[in-house]
Amino acid sequence: MATQISTGTSELRDITKMERIGAHSHIRGLGLDDRLEPRANSQGMVGQAKARKAAGMILKLVQEGRIAGRAMLFAGPPSTGKTAIALGMSQSLGPDVPFTMIAASEVFSLSMSKTEALTQAFRRSIGVRIKEETEIIEGEVVELQIDRSLTGATKTGKLTIKTTDMETIYDLGTKMIDALAKEKVTAGDVIAIDKTSGKVSKLGRSFARSRDYDAMGADTKFVQCPEGEIQKRREVVHTVSLHEIDVINSRTQGFLALFAGDTGEIKPELRNQINTKVAEWREEGKAEIVPGVLFIDEVHMLDIECFSYLNRALENELAPLVIMASNRGMARVRGTKIRSPHGLPVDLLDRVLIVSTKPYTETDIEEIIKIRCEEEDVKLTDSALQVLTTMAGQTTLRYALNLISTSQMLARKRKSDKVDVEDLRRSYTYFMDEKRSVEWIKMQEGSLIFEEISQAEAGREESMDF
Ligand SMILES: Nc1ncnc2c1ncn2[C@@H]1O[C@H](COP(=O)(O)OP(=O)(O)O)[C@@H](O)[C@H]1O
Ligand SMILES: [Mg+2]
Repeated sequence: MATQISTGTSELRDITKMERIGAHSHIRGLGLDDRLEPRANSQGMVGQAKARKAAGMILKLVQEGRIAGRAMLFAGPPSTGKTAIALGMSQSLGPDVPFTMIAASEVFSLSMSKTEALTQAFRRSIGVRIKEETEIIEGEVVELQIDRSLTGATKTGKLTIKTTDMETIYDLGTKMIDALAKEKVTAGDVIAIDKTSGKVSKLGRSFARSRDYDAMGADTKFVQCPEGEIQKRREVVHTVSLHEIDVINSRTQGFLALFAGDTGEIKPELRNQINTKVAEWREEGKAEIVPGVLFIDEVHMLDIECFSYLNRALENELAPLVIMASNRGMARVRGTKIRSPHGLPVDLLDRVLIVSTKPYTETDIEEIIKIRCEEEDVKLTDSALQVLTTMAGQTTLRYALNLISTSQMLARKRKSDKVDVEDLRRSYTYFMDEKRSVEWIKMQEGSLIFEEISQAEAGREESMDF
């Protein structure tokens, strides 16, 4: 059967790539030099040298396309930079290499099964680089004439376009007129129209029109009127993920679903068809697989069914590199009574490269606080910096970083542009860290409502014994 599989256009990528930053917005890479040695303070990264180097080595293998279907695990206490390093890795990947980040708890949703959610995450992380020949129309617009029907419902028009060698008139339908209107195309523009997708791009204004200063903005770009044929064939390369191909070709969804982000479940038969098609394209040299990276944060939140899915999926020919992070020591594997390192079943652990992250030294903490202050445009007095560093040591780094913006608010209230010890002290009384919160809960016994947990479950379910 000759199935028609469409791959959409490269524009889709920008829309579906979601960035989740905020706490990690200062991270711009792993901060390694050419020999993969960690620099002391670079690309927003400080300390955690061994883990960064290990991450860099794995990254290198990914970039060379030499690693896929493997898994690595960042294991370490909370606030030791596991998520930060994973994001650093994602920023060092090329724009073409897919990187997907999920928190394990996202897998448990009402709208789709756990395995479907994981399958989608896997397929988001595999890119297909497709070479296509498209026909484009390229030239300088001589005239654009649009006629509206009396009601305005239908439009017809004519586009006269030229190169230095020839001139042609095209009839326009409503869709093309809208596309031209959206790009605000007028006579004198040099444009390219992709004939398959109908996409119009403005390349600039023709030099011949450079005297029409009334039609010129400060950022107007002037280009030469193209030479030769108006219609040209051109090879274009774009990368889409397998998941995007799935969604675009799913009849019930259509590619609008990608904009809504609500893709629902996708039928296995369709995925099989797509896999077959992609394999065909690879054989014909039309497509290349770009294995990307899937990052599963807080992976101990997955249950045994998910873990066995992971085990199987990693065997698949089309598997990305899977990076996981866990802050558990010995913990119960969810859905079982078994306790296992990091809350991962041993058969999965067995195939995983484990990289451990360690608590930061005081100097590292101070550096990270400084970086965050710069990122958030906050000034600390020297003594405030010292106090915050000590606080981070006693609570967690993340707690201390959170106090930066709240303290700044308090500093502003007293009309100061520098955060001082007093602001930190007040923030500290407003917002509890984990330790104090636990103590407070103990003190409130009787007046807070607690969820009932069965005796068996309550029996030391998880512990963090790093
Ligand atoms: N090595 C580092 N360099 C710079 N910032 C870091 C580093 N490690 C952690 N951070 C920052 O500290 C905070 C806590 O780290 P995070 O990666 O969330 O810890 P984890 O995921 O291990 O719990 C985040 O804001 C993170 O960006
Ligand atoms: Mg984390």
